[in-house]
Amino acid sequence: MGQTRKIALTVNGKRYEEEVEVRLTLADFIRHQLGLTGTHLGCEHGVCGACTLLLDDMPARSCITYAVACDGARVTTIEGLDDDEITIELRAAFTREHALQCGYCTPGMLIAARDLVLRLAAADERQIRVGLSGNLCRCTGYVGIVRAVRAVIDQRRQRGILAVPGGGRTALGPAGSGHGATTSASDVARVPAAKTELRSENNGAIAIPDFTPAKVFKDHFTVAYPPGAVFDMFGDVKQVAACLPGASLTAVPTPERVEGLIRVKLGPIAANFHGAARIERNSGNLSGRIVGAGSDQRSRSSTQGEIRYRLVPIERGTATRVELSIGYSLRGMLAQIAREGLVRDLAARLTVEFARNLERQLSGTPPGEAQNLNGVSLLMGPLGMRARKALRRVFGR
Ligand code: FES
Ligand code: FES
Repeated sequence: MGQTRKIALTVNGKRYEEEVEVRLTLADFIRHQLGLTGTHLGCEHGVCGACTLLLDDMPARSCITYAVACDGARVTTIEGLDDDEITIELRAAFTREHALQCGYCTPGMLIAARDLVLRLAAADERQIRVGLSGNLCRCTGYVGIVRAVRAVIDQRRQRGILAVPGGGRTALGPAGSGHGATTSASDVARVPAAKTELRSENNGAIAIPDFTPAKVFKDHFTVAYPPGAVFDMFGDVKQVAACLPGASLTAVPTPERVEGLIRVKLGPIAANFHGAARIERNSGNLSGRIVGAGSDQRSRSSTQGEIRYRLVPIERGTATRVELSIGYSLRGMLAQIAREGLVRDLAARLTVEFARNLERQLSGTPPGEAQNLNGVSLLMGPLGMRARKALRRVFGR
């Protein structure tokens, strides 16, 4: 985990005090740390408006706002507007006017539209179109959206509800809490560039420091062999490496330590993570831990990872459920691309391949194609779609 800072803020009326990485965006904080996924992410460059929320009552792009800059702020997401009168009217109008199809842009669109309903004296189409020009919709062609916003403004003014000049704002300029931005910005500036060089021990070996993973998730797979046989196989480092797609050893392993290379192909970026891992095993409860560090010079990225496993007997001990806890921290260029969902997808695919290869090894089947995948390409299937989307966001391709 990189440099962190404690922030206190109110989100949808609830107060939070949270430790956040200084480079964490408000969008990722809201979605991943608080679990409020109504705030969507599209371009992540402040262009599409999908991530719009209210920051101290002003619409703001949460994808280009640091969470630390919101220390002391009042944040309102689409979930916090469930009972908001204007939003209720807008939701009904959006439904009536067919102002959404896939709905991806809708949370940000509703928040931007609510601001217009609040501020515009009359339902002027040009002003509405200009006001919504920072919110992109790939589906509707905007006609229904504009009609819906016009209708709500019209109806409210007819009911004698006047516009609030400036939406009640007292300050011009980018939305922010006005509390934490100054100190936070300097914190952000002090964040060192990602180090991709691995530290070495006195004997020149790659150091494997202990660390607290920034992200942790669970996975599992089953193998049609008893836990004892699986545990013995996990003790054979060479065989385990042969089961892992894209992995190869770069030094003779010991039961406690392994050095190697793993190839991950992410669109045009072929990353070769070179690193080392420490292996711990507990034969008493058939569990283990592998903790490692690696770096890729070409993509200037580095990672630390930890896999904890536990072997649970199933089907009267004739088969095994392998329970995994996978933790990692990623720095550098790949950290921009490899959002949490993408890494989970990659890990899920690796796990499936690993489980298949493990069963082959246990059955004594000689290594086949699947055991020698030429790197792990993320350009296949749904995972590829996400990778390509992420790359387009970062590289504009
Ligand atoms: S995701 Fe924030 S503006 Fe596009
Ligand atoms: S409804 Fe699909 S992007 Fe707007």
